[in-house]
Amino acid sequence: MALPKVNPTTTQAWKKLQNHFTQTQKTHLRELFAKDTQRGTKFSMQWEDFLVDFSKNRITQETVDLLLELAEEVGLKSSIDSYFKGDLINQTEGRAVLHTALRAQKEDEVLVDGQNVVPEVFEVKEKIKSFSHAVISGAKKGFTGKAFTDVVNIGIGGSDLGPVMVTEALKFYKNHLNTHFVSNVDGDHVHEVLKTLDPETTLFVVVSKTFTTQETLSNALTIKKWFLEHASEGDIAKHFAAVSTNQEKIDEFGIAQENVFPMWDWVGGRFSLWSAVGLSIALAVGYDNFDGLLSGANQMDTHFRQAPFAENVPVVLAMLSVWYNNFYGAETEAIIPYTQYLNRFSAYLQQGIMESNGKSVDRAGKRTNYETGTIIWGEPGTNSQHAFFQLIHQGTKLIPTDFIGFKESLHGDVDHHNKLMANFFAQTEALMNGKTREEVKSELQGQGLSQEELEVLLPFKVFEGNKPTNTILIDKLTPKSLGALIALYEHKIFVQGIVWNIFSYDQWGVELGKQLAKNILADIENSGIGKHDSSTLHLLQHFKK
Ligand code: F6P
Repeated sequence: MALPKVNPTTTQAWKKLQNHFTQTQKTHLRELFAKDTQRGTKFSMQWEDFLVDFSKNRITQETVDLLLELAEEVGLKSSIDSYFKGDLINQTEGRAVLHTALRAQKEDEVLVDGQNVVPEVFEVKEKIKSFSHAVISGAKKGFTGKAFTDVVNIGIGGSDLGPVMVTEALKFYKNHLNTHFVSNVDGDHVHEVLKTLDPETTLFVVVSKTFTTQETLSNALTIKKWFLEHASEGDIAKHFAAVSTNQEKIDEFGIAQENVFPMWDWVGGRFSLWSAVGLSIALAVGYDNFDGLLSGANQMDTHFRQAPFAENVPVVLAMLSVWYNNFYGAETEAIIPYTQYLNRFSAYLQQGIMESNGKSVDRAGKRTNYETGTIIWGEPGTNSQHAFFQLIHQGTKLIPTDFIGFKESLHGDVDHHNKLMANFFAQTEALMNGKTREEVKSELQGQGLSQEELEVLLPFKVFEGNKPTNTILIDKLTPKSLGALIALYEHKIFVQGIVWNIFSYDQWGVELGKQLAKNILADIENSGIGKHDSSTLHLLQHFKK
């Protein structure tokens, strides 16, 4: 079934939300907390080992009810069914969107063109399992008979960001294999990585759904050339693996069939880490941990599919984000994990969220008359506190922020963890409460400032507060909880795409630049320069001089 095509601004709920916004927009979070001492627990959801506190948002129960009414009115329920059932909801590419099938359970049935794809998924999982076991145990050897010490993932976008983010996030669970990632077409990237490697003990995994991506193919060919300076053509079979849907191109590249891992066109690049695209994850942390990641995601899938909207973590977080994006006019959202392990989490979600919902044409093919995709950014706390938090606290922009933290630290350093988490809790409290003129005044008086000095300093020291945050507090960073956390954001993307009436699973917006780059490469490599605007022409002439 096709997704509904409802312009959200035409719904009853949207109109009610607009009125509600006019009436409540001046209310300070401080007032809401003062009015209801149970607010913290009332606007919290406990799911498995996740506590999601959304009480520090500019909402009342009425806001939540209306947002959920909006979700109903745009047909979210039937859309979720279409998503999980494998309907062709990536309509502009005529494809299903089934990354959820990659973490399905063995007995599940997910039909694509009338065929259950779960057995195929499990076949590939088995192959990932035996391949990663063989490499980790040292049974699989390089061309001189040595065991592998290093793995290089060659890919870009979804074929890089997921594996990088997860291997960083699960570093604690890592084995002896060193993992490297080559993504940028910038030759300095690949050459920097190559200079640290021994061709005898390095395994290369070329990951490209299409196997036509310029960056990945250029890097793979450069690496192959480097490898062949040390080994012979026949040794490629021992050192190169590929993950792709494009068997023909893999054959052209010369990768042995036993090292080829299939993918499917019903898995979008930015949602593909659960497939063999995650091979470098399985190699880095072992298959069982990779499977743990999948099972956490699967649990979140079940929750998203079954929980009533009011208790549904992805739905609630998605609708809160709609509230700020479309009613408060907030343009960006920050995601701040309080663990160094999640240092690539925001970068990963930038692709997931912005490539999906950065659209301005609705599902009926018309320009939207409302805002869509949010701009995502963030870095781990506490580093971000010493970098850009000033702007969140006292700048002019409204930046709803997700705080993600863990009750337990992995190395068990209680002293550090208590300090880290004290900052975690302090920030959302500070952002919510701020500091009033009166509070600043009495603080400065306490410091013995004269009335005159106090008046000068006062405005700079006031914090307005009323800054919205969500707190996601998880027991421990494990493969399972990480899988669930990623899946939570994936489903948030889906919900927002449905509300905004856009197609979240294509990415035509990246094509134009790719096409132009091809022509410009010819301008750079050939003697003349083709037709360009005066700026581009001038720049190219300068570059070629
Ligand atoms: O940036 C566009 C894009 O198509 C992404 O969606 C994808 O993750 C990336 O390029 C890499 O594509 P491929 O895996 O086909 O090399």
